[in-house]
Amino acid sequence: MLTGKLVRLRAFEPSDAEALYRWNADPEVGRWMINDYPESLAQLTKRLGEDRPRNTYDKLILCVETLADRTPIGAIALTDADPENGRAELDVYIGEASHRNGGYGTDAIRVLCRYGFDQMRLHGISLWVVPDNHPARHVYQKLGFVEEGRERERFRRDGKWHDLIVMSLLEGELVED
Ligand SMILES: CC(C)(COP(=O)(O)OP(=O)(O)OC[C@H]1O[C@@H](n2cnc3c(N)ncnc32)[C@H](O)[C@@H]1OP(=O)(O)O)[C@@H](O)C(=O)NCCC(=O)NCCS
Repeated sequence: MLTGKLVRLRAFEPSDAEALYRWNADPEVGRWMINDYPESLAQLTKRLGEDRPRNTYDKLILCVETLADRTPIGAIALTDADPENGRAELDVYIGEASHRNGGYGTDAIRVLCRYGFDQMRLHGISLWVVPDNHPARHVYQKLGFVEEGRERERFRRDGKWHDLIVMSLLEGELVED
């Protein structure tokens, strides 16, 4: 069910710690995302180890891996799912620079949205994107996400304020390929 044309989505394993650590350090990944304070490889390894909580309805965080050779290339999440209103929030990144712009992000988002609507019975999926993040906006629009509004000067990066655009995709609006 969590398999697309290019990717498979699966739970993170302790063995993904090194890749995740590398992705977190890539300025292209962090540029337009809300980042936590830096985490050491040791802390990350512990976090992905025995104590890692299971994925749940309201916190589903998955590793994106290539279908062809099972290489971990990024992360995707549906969080804060609210059963009364059938809403959740989507976050995504392709951490392996060599795999960006290869269709993997589009495929991963399509797979997770399909899962959200078909399996989790969501009614809508929301996300926030910085106006200057043109590749991400292009991908979201291509998949059917609609811009709903803008929070002014909501995001601070490199000493400057940026707006955040709110986008959402309702049940039945996902553009299949
Ligand atoms: C956004 C992101 C997840 C997309 O994943 P990806 O695998 O690189 O995307 P895809 O290869 O599926 O699609 C990229 C699309 O953007 C287009 N694109 C690339 N650069 C672009 C630009 N500067 N302006 C507009 N479109 C652009 C590509 O042509 C392609 O569209 P097409 O398939 O219609 O030709 C990935 O770039 C990423 O991880 N970025 C850094 C983290 C991030 O910004 N995450 C989102 C935060 S809201």
